[in-house]
Amino acid sequence: MEYIFSLELIYLVASVTYILGLKMLGHPETARKGNLIAAFGMTLAILGTIFLHQGTVDPLIYSLIGAAIVIGTLIGWGVAKKVDMTKMPELVSLFNGMGGASAAIIGLIEFSHYVGDQLSIATIIAGLVIGSISFSGSMIAWAKLNGTLNKPIRLPSYNILNNIILLAIVSFGIFITCSNSGSQAYLYLIFFGALAYGVLFVMPIGGADMPVVISLLNSFTGLAAAFAGFLYGNMVMLTGGILVGSAGTILTFAMCDAMNRPLASVIFGAFGEGAADLESSQKSQGGSIKKTTPSDAAILMNYANRVIIVPGYGLAVAQAQHVIHELEILLEKKGVEVKYAIHPVAGRMPGHMNVLLAETNVDYDKLVEMEDINSEFQNTDAVLVVGANDVVNPAAHNDPASPIYGMPILDVENAKSIIINKRSMNPGYAGIENELFFNQKTSMLFGDAKDVLTKLVHELKNM
Ligand code: TAP
Repeated sequence: MEYIFSLELIYLVASVTYILGLKMLGHPETARKGNLIAAFGMTLAILGTIFLHQGTVDPLIYSLIGAAIVIGTLIGWGVAKKVDMTKMPELVSLFNGMGGASAAIIGLIEFSHYVGDQLSIATIIAGLVIGSISFSGSMIAWAKLNGTLNKPIRLPSYNILNNIILLAIVSFGIFITCSNSGSQAYLYLIFFGALAYGVLFVMPIGGADMPVVISLLNSFTGLAAAFAGFLYGNMVMLTGGILVGSAGTILTFAMCDAMNRPLASVIFGAFGEGAADLESSQKSQGGSIKKTTPSDAAILMNYANRVIIVPGYGLAVAQAQHVIHELEILLEKKGVEVKYAIHPVAGRMPGHMNVLLAETNVDYDKLVEMEDINSEFQNTDAVLVVGANDVVNPAAHNDPASPIYGMPILDVENAKSIIINKRSMNPGYAGIENELFFNQKTSMLFGDAKDVLTKLVHELKNM
């Protein structure tokens, strides 16, 4: 009795740390501490479950659990320690996939123990299907984020095919639950069907639509873990799963909003459809570009009253967050008002730019969300776009054939002058050309972001 009480207390404390951690993750200033608090709660819950578990456990099981924890910790710690900031989104996808796989494995192992108990079998099948989709989908997302799969792959009529497979999986799941057959063959059939669906679901998605999929897969993993918690009657697992699932769902809606995509078309098809016309939107704009130098760009910004910096994925690649902060401080000292325009899907993971700039202690009040800053571009003397491309591409407004058509963008073309820093004329993640580069008001400042910004700082210091 005493043990149960202690374990329940530990679960309660752990659940509170998850909620607290999640709340603190909502602000860059408290995010790191929030993460640690939730991790502490998770460790407590794991240790409590192992050592305060009721009934006798074979010592071999303890050794196996211990070995799994040690191996998992070493791999996770090593990989997370070594990973570059730019590779972080891929790692998050990989970790998310592992969560889905764990939930699926629980389903595979526990199925035979619950034959005849329909509620538990329904729970197991739901967790198995969702976990498997999350696992295989996350693996494809991982390959897409690291560039291994850089083009969306679409089978003919893929939407119809995917929806038929999904319907078949759901119907078969209901059949397995109702039939009470306990057939392992059925179990593995639905498992492989769900894995295949995960692959087919994420495969066709391309261009700028990945953020929605990534957050959706995240919520799937939470949901699958919640089903496992429900199966075991384990409150802390249930709470954790529900929190991840609901946070992922909120994020999915936020991403849908940011990309201007209805959720129904994310799940049931027509998603990523615009990219079918990728080639037509890739046609060359045919105009000419104007190049500038760090010296000329520095003069322009030096005499500006207001400058808006638009950070993008290239800033993260170049690890230029510290030097951009230096540039901002320098301009402010010269009486120039500087703000950062943050697009919700800039970079490769939700909040990527906020995390990157928080690392260098940029004042959070200077980070302005897209909806709030868009009206300010018209009163801005100079915009400095650093390693951003898709999030400032006017094709989102003007080209119905474009895979990013309909996505809200930062309206930098309304500013008086635009400086764009990137290394070449190569496209961004969506793989499409950007007519902004050919705009009369645009000057291209070619080079690696860190080098170019360092030169800009140097020039400004000498003015
Ligand atoms: P992108 O459109 O991907 O453009 C980044 C640009 O940075 C590239 O055009 C590249 O041009 C430039 N670049 C790369 N390395 C650089 C360096 N060292 N120095 C200077 N420039 C460099 O980035 P974005 O505007 O941030 O848009 C994000 C895209 O990723 C969107 O399409 C979004 O949908 C997608 N996405 C986002 C997420 C999330 S959740 N944020 C997840 C998956 C996908 P050069 O090669 O010419 O230098």
